[in-house]
Amino acid sequence: MRLAGKVAIVTGSGSGMGRAIAIEFAKNGAAILVADLNLDAAHETVQQIEAKSGRAIALGMDVTSRADTIKMCDKAVRQFGRIDILVNNAGSRCVKHFLDHTEADWHRMIDINLTGHFLCAQAAVPHFLKFGKGKIINLASIAAHTGRPDRVAYCAAKAGVIGLTKALAMDLRGRNICVTAISPGSIATPMNAAAATSSDVNWGGETVVGRWGQPEDVAYAAVFLASDESDYITGSEILVEGGWLYGRARDGEI
Ligand SMILES: NC(=O)c1ccc[n+]([C@@H]2O[C@H](COP(=O)([O-])OP(=O)(O)OC[C@H]3O[C@@H](n4cnc5c(N)ncnc54)[C@H](O)[C@@H]3O)[C@@H](O)[C@H]2O)c1
Repeated sequence: MRLAGKVAIVTGSGSGMGRAIAIEFAKNGAAILVADLNLDAAHETVQQIEAKSGRAIALGMDVTSRADTIKMCDKAVRQFGRIDILVNNAGSRCVKHFLDHTEADWHRMIDINLTGHFLCAQAAVPHFLKFGKGKIINLASIAAHTGRPDRVAYCAAKAGVIGLTKALAMDLRGRNICVTAISPGSIATPMNAAAATSSDVNWGGETVVGRWGQPEDVAYAAVFLASDESDYITGSEILVEGGWLYGRARDGEI
């Protein structure tokens, strides 16, 4: 029980990695506020947690709304008495060529993937300061580090998440608040459903480990970053990408 007695908010936890993180946190003893734009999906995550005797409540909210992020933190405190952990996981991806990106596409990607992390952190940090400790875990991506085709706004937002993580860690120095990022690679979630099931796509085979990542691979890293075991880690990032980013074997390598 590495998170016994702790209270966590996980945004976007009605699906994919957010759901896996919420479930894994609950297994480790934390009470969870499951926040998602899709309230039905959030309820489904709560049911899965409660089925294993965990504690969780659902909230329908939009991370791009400051009012919603404040309500989210107030609800967690009202229900569970405190907040110890914020996981900024909610995200969305727009896949089209640069020339086809509209200005609205650009703003939507920045709003959901970057501004949402900023707003949730700004709503949670006053509570962390009151309770004397806090952990913020930002979901970034390998797309923060590599130029990937047909994702200009998404890549820019995710690179921004890495910058936000480092700068926020500095602004919160000396306050017992750690800010870290997780950059997943190819994880088999609904966001990647088409690629994960297509016989033409071999993203798993491109990794050093040789398989697609599962949402639980990310959740295990999140448990560590949320726990007291990582109190000396801030401003930095864990890659959960099966070695894809730095490990490249060329054909005929000797
Ligand atoms: N799947 C991957 O391979 C991969 C790789 C790198 C990074 N990521 C990042 O990891 C995070 C989780 O991805 P996933 O694959 O689990 O996605 P997913 O599509 O399965 O789930 C995303 C969840 O976020 C919610 N959401 C979307 N917009 C929201 C908003 N404005 N307010 C509140 N909730 C909102 C959705 O309703 C959904 O439940 C995202 O930040 C994503 O960019 C994913």
